[in-house]
Amino acid sequence: MGVLAGIFSGALLLSPLVMAQQAILEGSRFYPQESAKGMVATSHFLASEVARDVLAQGGNAVDAAVVAGFALAVTQPRSGNIGGGGFMLISDEQSGDVIAIDYRETAPAAATETMFQDEDGEAVTERSRYTHLAAGVPGTVAGLAMALEEYGTMSLADALAPAIRLAEEGFAVPSRFVQGIQDSKARFEPWEASMAKFFKEDGSAYEVGDTYRQPDLAATLKRIAENGAREFYEGETARLIVAEMENHDGLITMEDLAGYQPVAREPSHGTYRGYDIYAMSPPSSGGAHIVQMLNILEDYPIDEMGFGSADSLHLMAEAMKRAYADRSEYLGDTGFVDVPLDGITSKEYAAELRAQISMEQATPSADIGPGDPLPYESNETTHFSIADGEGLAVSNTYTINFSYGSGIVVDGAGFLLNNEMDDFSAKPGVPNAYGLIGGEANKVEPGKRMLSSMTPTIVKRDGKNFMITGSPGGSRIITTTLQMLMNVIDHNMNIQSAVSAPRMHHQWLPDELRVEDGFSPDTLELLRQRGHTVSQQDAMGAAQSIVIRDGMFYGGADPRRSTSSAIGL
Ligand code: DON
Repeated sequence: MGVLAGIFSGALLLSPLVMAQQAILEGSRFYPQESAKGMVATSHFLASEVARDVLAQGGNAVDAAVVAGFALAVTQPRSGNIGGGGFMLISDEQSGDVIAIDYRETAPAAATETMFQDEDGEAVTERSRYTHLAAGVPGTVAGLAMALEEYGTMSLADALAPAIRLAEEGFAVPSRFVQGIQDSKARFEPWEASMAKFFKEDGSAYEVGDTYRQPDLAATLKRIAENGAREFYEGETARLIVAEMENHDGLITMEDLAGYQPVAREPSHGTYRGYDIYAMSPPSSGGAHIVQMLNILEDYPIDEMGFGSADSLHLMAEAMKRAYADRSEYLGDTGFVDVPLDGITSKEYAAELRAQISMEQATPSADIGPGDPLPYESNETTHFSIADGEGLAVSNTYTINFSYGSGIVVDGAGFLLNNEMDDFSAKPGVPNAYGLIGGEANKVEPGKRMLSSMTPTIVKRDGKNFMITGSPGGSRIITTTLQMLMNVIDHNMNIQSAVSAPRMHHQWLPDELRVEDGFSPDTLELLRQRGHTVSQQDAMGAAQSIVIRDGMFYGGADPRRSTSSAIGL
């Protein structure tokens, strides 16, 4: 508080940008969250600002998304990244196309099915989370560059410029930044480059309002700006990654990096009460299960039951359990396994699952297993949503898996390595860090993409972009995104209310209905009476979202992240 009081006493002398940062540090926002021209919603105000500037200067939503993606890699190192991967959905109203760019990490060529097991075949989670073996081949640079080249208007160098400036000149750190580093210090301590990145030269911690500069990261971004995205995969940056691997028994080679390719995919598609829902297809499980859960719920009068009612929460939990049971069995990288997607997302299969649901009594998870969809076969990530006035919308979720990924910074390159290999099943039936059970379909294989829950989603109505949403939160991503859709479509909430409303989650195993603070105790008691094990836990997700109605753009910044910001043009 002392630092801030000092800053505010001199506020009149400061630039609007600095004042904006400091106002946000104090928890107040004064950005317009509605606009007739376009909107950005990200989890960091500096990324929102540079993306908004791109739109204001005539760039399109994809330009703004790529600029935000690189800016978050600088301003929010716990999840913004160039050392990880993710998924971007792009909807172009004019052509009617909705495409997905898959820039998920891949397992290195030397990866093996048992690499995260000991001699006795037991899963060794430490190895898949906090060592160089935890890192998949990063996809972010290639993915953002692909989006820009195919759908943007800016050069890669221009799109990198704001990130380079923020890394070089630095920015005043907010309390969330300071707290995050403090909480994760033990993870950085074994690695000299990580300590050098996150602590001052004398080893002391950054304090709120201190200027934070990242010269190694700035140099890496500059090399990419000068030489193109392949620099990361074949140039000096690739050499630095491989040297890091060779020094610490990691697996990623120059060949792995040179061979990395993002993939343009068709998103999963379904309908819900007349809206078209597009969400991420495999190697994410998000799209398949969002559509599956919506299909199950569509037949119930959720709007009449009301938000937060025991009836609607009960039905949502029952739909969630069945979807996550299927996830454990069927979902994986479609380059390696057949996923019965048409079956999982069909209305007929949903009707079959719905028939198992009792209104009066929760089905114990032990009585639920993966269904049979085949007959129909014919702790941090970050999400942002951007829409422009020309009918282009972008929904992007990307991650290094945990907050600060593996905790390992590539020496000399200034960025964190992901620990995404933990999203594979270390051993069939053994849960990953989010308690998610995976099977054969998600075993480790060379070159394979590990199963994800990330669910960037775009909703269209009558051919027009209507809603852009998604969230971080590991296993909670799919259910958070589901609730975003239901809050707007069923409960007619405005987008800020939809984002802020309390959330629930069930993932089949453990058999527990997890709720945030904010539901009424008598509702929770009614759920217990129906047989649910209700557990009140920490907040879930951060669903930076946009709704477009009658030509107006409305932004929703998630209050669960103190740096979240939605800015209209
Ligand atoms: O891809 C996935 O599903 C996970 N690696 C996402 C991790 C995550 O969301 C952590 N965040 N809160």
